[in-house]
Amino acid sequence: MEVERVQAIASSLPSPGAIPAEYIRPEQERPSLTTYCGPVLEVPAVDLGDVDLEGLVRKVADASREWGMFQVVNHGIPAEVIAELQRVGREFFELPAEEKEKYARPPGSRSLEGYGTQLQKDLDGKKSWVDHLFHKIWPPSSVDYRFWPANPPAYRVANKEYANHMRRVADKLFRCLSLGLGLEEDALKNAVGGEDLQYNLKINFYPPCPCPDLTLGVLPHTDLSALTVLVPNEIPGLQVLKDGKWIDVEYVPNALIIHIGDQVEILSNGEYRSVLHRTTVNKEKARMSWPVFLEPPMEWVVGPLPQLLANQEGKDHASGEPPKYKTEKFKDYMYCKLNKLPQ
Ligand code: SIN
Ligand code: FE2
Repeated sequence: MEVERVQAIASSLPSPGAIPAEYIRPEQERPSLTTYCGPVLEVPAVDLGDVDLEGLVRKVADASREWGMFQVVNHGIPAEVIAELQRVGREFFELPAEEKEKYARPPGSRSLEGYGTQLQKDLDGKKSWVDHLFHKIWPPSSVDYRFWPANPPAYRVANKEYANHMRRVADKLFRCLSLGLGLEEDALKNAVGGEDLQYNLKINFYPPCPCPDLTLGVLPHTDLSALTVLVPNEIPGLQVLKDGKWIDVEYVPNALIIHIGDQVEILSNGEYRSVLHRTTVNKEKARMSWPVFLEPPMEWVVGPLPQLLANQEGKDHASGEPPKYKTEKFKDYMYCKLNKLPQ
C-alpha cells in the first residue's frame, strides 16, 4: 500500500487555510493554547570546550537532572561539517517523490531504516505533520548503504564526516555524565555497549503547514535512546516540558541539542531524567532536524547500574536506593515502547 507523504499533502492542499482532519489535534494539545509564554525560561547551554572539567561535569549533570536536555557549544564539530550535513539532507527532501521513494522503508521491514512517514502508532488515529529518513551511521558494520541516498552525490561523504566527529562528542558527554554520578569516567559508555554503541540518524522534515496552530510535528515523547544529539535548522519548533510547561527551545546557531534518553535514565536509576518533548510546525518554511540516537545494540541488557544501588554486595553508595526500573534487553524495551505496551 502506498503511504501518503506529508510533503505531498502539504503541496497539494485544495484550499490554503485547511489541513486534513486527521492532522488536527484536540484542543488541549494544540500548540497555540499550551505553549508557555511567561518570563523567559531557557534550556541550559553548556560550553563543552570548558577546561574546568569539574565545572563542566557539574553543568552537564545539573542540566540532566533538572531538564533532561541541554544545548552544547564549542563541541568541536566544525560549522562546515554541520552545514554540509544540513545541505545534503535538505537537497534529498527537495528531490522528486519518485527519487525519494527509492529509499522507502520496505513494507513489513523489522528495521526502522529508510524514507518514511510516522514511525509510531498513534492510538487515537491522529497523524503528525512530518516525514523522515532514517539510517545508521556508525559503527561501519551496522551501516546499510541501501538507505543512504546516492543523490545528492555528496550525501554519503557528508554523513560519514559528521559521524566521525560525532563520536568524540558522544564520548565526552558519556564521560561527563558518568563523573556526574560519581562513577568511573567510562562507566556509562561501557553500559550502553562500549565500542558497539549504535549511532542512528533520523532526518525529520516538517513541511510548511497552513494551520500550524492546529497540529504538531511530533507528539510529546521521550527518546528510547541512551542519548540523542540533535542538529536543528533555523526554524524553531522544538519544545520541552519543564515543570508542567511547554517551553520553546531557542535556536542557537551551530549548537547541538542533547536529550537524555530512556536508557540513561534507567542506568542512572532515575537520577538523570529522560526529557518529554514535542515539535510544532511553521506556516511558511520547512523545519528540519537531524537527531542522532545513541543506542545500545539490540541484544544488550540495560538496567540500573549496580554501583548506584543500595545494599549491593559490599558497595555502599551514599544515596543508594533500590532499583526503580526493570533490567532487560534493549530490543525488548524498544518493542514495548514502540507498540505502546507496559514497560
Ligand atoms: C523528535 O524528537 O523526534 C524531533 C525533535 C526535533 O525535530 O527537534
Ligand atoms: Fe525525540
